Amino acid sequence: MGTYTITILPGDGIGTDVTQQAQHVLEIIGEKYSHTFTFHKGLVGIAAIEAEGDAISDATMALCQQSDAILFGAVGGVTHNLGPNANASPERALFRLRKDFQLYANLRPVRPFQAMLGASTIKSEVLQGTDLLVVRELTGGLYYGRPSEIRETPQGLEAIDTLIYTEAEIERIVRTAFDLARERRKHVTSVDKANVLSSSRLWRRTADRVAKDYPDVALEHLLVDSCTMHLIRRPATFDVIVTENMFGDILTDEASMLAGSMGLLPSASLGTRQTGHGLFGLYEPIHGTAPDIAGQDKANPIAAILSAALLLRFSLGLKREAAAIEAAVEHIINAGYRTEDVREANKEVVGTKAMGQLITQALLS
Ligand code: IPM
Ligand code: MG
Repeated sequence: MGTYTITILPGDGIGTDVTQQAQHVLEIIGEKYSHTFTFHKGLVGIAAIEAEGDAISDATMALCQQSDAILFGAVGGVTHNLGPNANASPERALFRLRKDFQLYANLRPVRPFQAMLGASTIKSEVLQGTDLLVVRELTGGLYYGRPSEIRETPQGLEAIDTLIYTEAEIERIVRTAFDLARERRKHVTSVDKANVLSSSRLWRRTADRVAKDYPDVALEHLLVDSCTMHLIRRPATFDVIVTENMFGDILTDEASMLAGSMGLLPSASLGTRQTGHGLFGLYEPIHGTAPDIAGQDKANPIAAILSAALLLRFSLGLKREAAAIEAAVEHIINAGYRTEDVREANKEVVGTKAMGQLITQALLS
């Protein structure tokens, strides 16, 4: 029995549809295991820009700061109507949350459901046994490097982005990957572009140095272009993949297709700040806002619901409850229910709310 505070930031598009179902699942967990969850809600993204003039206000940041964890939906979409605030991009909410709370470790597990191997565009025999974890560096690299701008020159416009990493930033994320690999199959693949980029050469050197402290964990290096190929050629051979921010962004969209849909994959973003119960963190589905289906009861809530499970595990220390959610999701998948994004022949297609309800029913049974 415990008391916990969770800030929910639904954001834009289907962010609202899916976080509603995730909150419902958390409420059921609260009832079943006698925990008290206090939920705060805040605006982020386009809704926040329109109502508060910024993608995330100081007040919402303070709300997050006072919580044990954040459950995030999605931000972004059509922003051409924002008028005078056009510079305040909805994505800024994510960038500020990640940076200000120093959530440098983004964990994106990919484990296709056995009963859904057929939903992927990749052959089942290639997918068989796939269970990997991408550890993406989240607070450095191209996303935050300055200068980053489009500027006038006598020869015309030019654009610049800056890719910068300190050794300390690389070391802490590589250590996270090795620590996690120790609890799994003890294999780390470090992904870089060391044949071209200086930042990647420092990355590789640092990974080699850190590896000496983990003699029980094997380290393999892959160039990012080669990794994209191996990910769909031999996905089951990967255990933990660690990489910088932009490579991690790209590789995880690719990896999501191993599972069949972006609508299935959760993520956790963690730093080092301890709350009373675990590590403070932000949890979000890896999918975006899908404005074309927002509010239509079509979105797949599973990624958000599995993100809530990660929240229970990492930030609240509720491992048994997290496992119960994961088992309930798997049970409903095995029972043959699917949302539109993973439609399969002979399977029953249900909406966002019905999928949420099926999962809560499974939790209660
Ligand atoms: C992600 C998203 C974000 C990112 C976007 C929305 C800025 O693609 O979390 O993977 O690039 O980090
Ligand atoms: Mg992405």
